Amino acid sequence: MNKILVTGGTGYIGSHTVVELLQAGYEVVVVDDLSNSGIEVLDSIEKITGKRPLFEKFDLSDRELTLDFFGRVSGISAIIHFAASKAVGESVEKPLLYYRNNLVSLMNILECQLKFGVQHIVFSSSCTVYGQPDHLPVTEATPRKDAESPYGNTKRVNEDILRDTIAANPVLKGIALRYFNPVGAHPSALIGELPLGVPQNLVPFITQTAAGIRDELHVFGDDYNTPDGSAIRDYINVVDLSKAHVVAIERLLAGKNRQNYEVFNLGTGKGVSVLEMVRTFEKATGVNLKYTVVGRRAGDIEKIWADTSYANRELGWKALSGLEETLRSAWEWEKGCGGYKLLIYK
Ligand code: NAD
Ligand code: WQD
Repeated sequence: MNKILVTGGTGYIGSHTVVELLQAGYEVVVVDDLSNSGIEVLDSIEKITGKRPLFEKFDLSDRELTLDFFGRVSGISAIIHFAASKAVGESVEKPLLYYRNNLVSLMNILECQLKFGVQHIVFSSSCTVYGQPDHLPVTEATPRKDAESPYGNTKRVNEDILRDTIAANPVLKGIALRYFNPVGAHPSALIGELPLGVPQNLVPFITQTAAGIRDELHVFGDDYNTPDGSAIRDYINVVDLSKAHVVAIERLLAGKNRQNYEVFNLGTGKGVSVLEMVRTFEKATGVNLKYTVVGRRAGDIEKIWADTSYANRELGWKALSGLEETLRSAWEWEKGCGGYKLLIYK
């Protein structure tokens, strides 16, 4: 049985991917420092799958601890590297924290891969590397642009670190997955997005507004050059996204990768505006949302959505969930967060 190391595996996307990996028959080891997630997630994963991944809590930006882990835990076939700090706004206030955490963690992982012979890695990248594209939809050949935030820059630099390390060490094989906007929750409503404090992202703010935790949603701008004036994104169901990670792992383990370093866009190929998201949420859940249109948020781009043809063809993967079903899953998770609420709303 192949053993997969999932860093950041108690986080939002990581936990959903651990579920898919366990259900696909993989053995999973999770490393997470619990800086942005709770240990309770492991209980939920076990409830969903009937299996509990191995777990170790430590900071992957600590080189000694990371070397020690790889020296102790053998038989790792591949790594999915989710662990990172990801709050755009916080990265502007604390750039050094973001550069240290996100760059050093990846460098420690790559050093250990070379030292301990772990060939394969799947890396969490982001469509943020494209900035505001000149042409839409975005393909993997669309030029990357200067990042709008230190966080976005860590993703771009991490891609370069991965690309260059693989070029210098062809024994390594890696895939960077550029996520568009992951949203929703597992259909069991046992795992989902756990934003700490006031959510920065749209969907958790919508669900917390619907739950009465937030007074109203602020729609950041309706003066964009879009059909209804609000900004457009490509919102992808988190379970569809997680399934793509299992496919990427299988591609690497089967040696089906065409190059040693590959990049794939993971989106739906459909752009949806903020106001459309509000209306779709109301239709999907029957809950009316109170919102006010305010000014644009600094750093926001106007519109982006993916050309998914390369990922669909090469990975044999496609995002299948509908937006209403996805937003309903986010709402069911919000209603059922249970004991998590203390963790979420502190
Ligand atoms: P998340 O914060 O829920 O998960 C990240 C996990 O990594 C958390 O559990 C956190 O505790 C852990 N972590 C952070 N630094 C660590 C360290 N030094 N050592 C060990 N564990 C550490 O975030 P997420 O939304 O699941 O994102 C996962 C990955 O996907 C990140 O790399 C993020 O940049 C990327 N991504 C996320 C989105 C999104 O909108 N959520 C979009 C594109 C890319
Ligand atoms: C989506 C749209 C907002 C909140 C960010 C990061 C990106 C990635 C995904 C990590 C935008 C609007 C939002 C609100 C609103 N994260 N909005 N009111 O900004 O596309 O991407 O998360 O990799 O790197 O940049 O996602 O959910 O914050 O915003 O009107 O209260 O919703 O202006 O148009 P974004 P988001």
